[in-house]
Amino acid sequence: MADQDAQSPVGSEPPALPVLRWDELPEGPVLVLLDQTRLPVEEVELVCTDVPALVRAIRTLAVRGAPLLGIAGGYGVALAAARGYDVAEAVGLLERARPTAVNLGYGVRRVAAAYGAAAEKGAGAAEAAAVALAEARALHREDAQASRRMAEYGTALLEELLPGRGYQLLTHCNTGALVSGGEGTAFAVALRVHRQGRLRRLWVDETRPLLQGARLTAYEAARSGMAYSLLTDSAAGSLFAAGEVDAVLIGADRIAADGSVANKVGSYPLAVLAKYHHVPFIVVAPTTTVDMDTAEGTSIIVEQRSGQEVTELTSPQVVSAGGGGGMVVAPLGSPAYNPAFDITPPELITAIVTEEGVISPVTGVGLAELCARSSQV
Ligand code: MRU
Repeated sequence: MADQDAQSPVGSEPPALPVLRWDELPEGPVLVLLDQTRLPVEEVELVCTDVPALVRAIRTLAVRGAPLLGIAGGYGVALAAARGYDVAEAVGLLERARPTAVNLGYGVRRVAAAYGAAAEKGAGAAEAAAVALAEARALHREDAQASRRMAEYGTALLEELLPGRGYQLLTHCNTGALVSGGEGTAFAVALRVHRQGRLRRLWVDETRPLLQGARLTAYEAARSGMAYSLLTDSAAGSLFAAGEVDAVLIGADRIAADGSVANKVGSYPLAVLAKYHHVPFIVVAPTTTVDMDTAEGTSIIVEQRSGQEVTELTSPQVVSAGGGGGMVVAPLGSPAYNPAFDITPPELITAIVTEEGVISPVTGVGLAELCARSSQV
């Protein structure tokens, strides 16, 4: 088990991660992404000059995580507009790039609507493109604000559930600055707890098959100076049994109207374990992740990815390029089951934390009331 015990002293925060930025180059505007497939080995930028390049970056998980997919999708529409591409076609390509995270379609449609409204009012191409970019920037800023508020609500909820103590928190996948305009969703809560000096340990599930926990969350935890330990996904059970988990914090890719939560595969087994061991299971997500048009969890489309991600230790970049070359961990040609997400029903969720407040118990009515307060859904 990898172990990292250092606590960063207050005031020695690392610089913000260069996750995504719009840049104006002499040859035209570009969207610059931190290529998450290369982390933690190297921090490499991926420059997208057009929408097909951004769609590839989304499919190969160079850019990923629900809120960031929404932001990237929004900037993708702005890029199409600024470069004079067919915006309607860009919208279709971006919306279909990955099916589960509802934020992607939200970001794409929101920026496209702003562009369309400007064009309808008679704006010229450059002016409408500027409106699209302003909308993408607004979405980016709002996500950063949502992240701050979720961290505040999430830490207050932990204090309410587990008063006057430090915590050992378990998380799955990656939910930090790498998925957000700010410091993330679930990870932002853990980070605030750490800054309050109350994080005894962040347990980080490695998150097979693409290792977002090991590659990305451990990377963010180490940068932040948190006490954290990495574990294989299957080690979580014995950790609960040993009484070493005070609460589970995860993010979400889509929350259906009944409160069911789609998140990285492996989240549902953690919810079952948490229920059995009477440990709070907390979902942290902005209201842009709520999809009131999807009635229940069973209606959420779960992305199925290549079995090669399971049979080989390889990067999705390599898989999507049709190449082998990963480390083979199964007999050649083994069929594999590789859903990217699973669905946790509301009865297993202690609370959903959003920027608008906390829902607990999780019910469709509570979710509808909360969403009625938000302009985002
Ligand atoms: O396949 P990924 O890496 O895009 O999956 C990301 C997750 O499942 C995150 O947990 C989710 O997007 C929540 S982060 C706010």
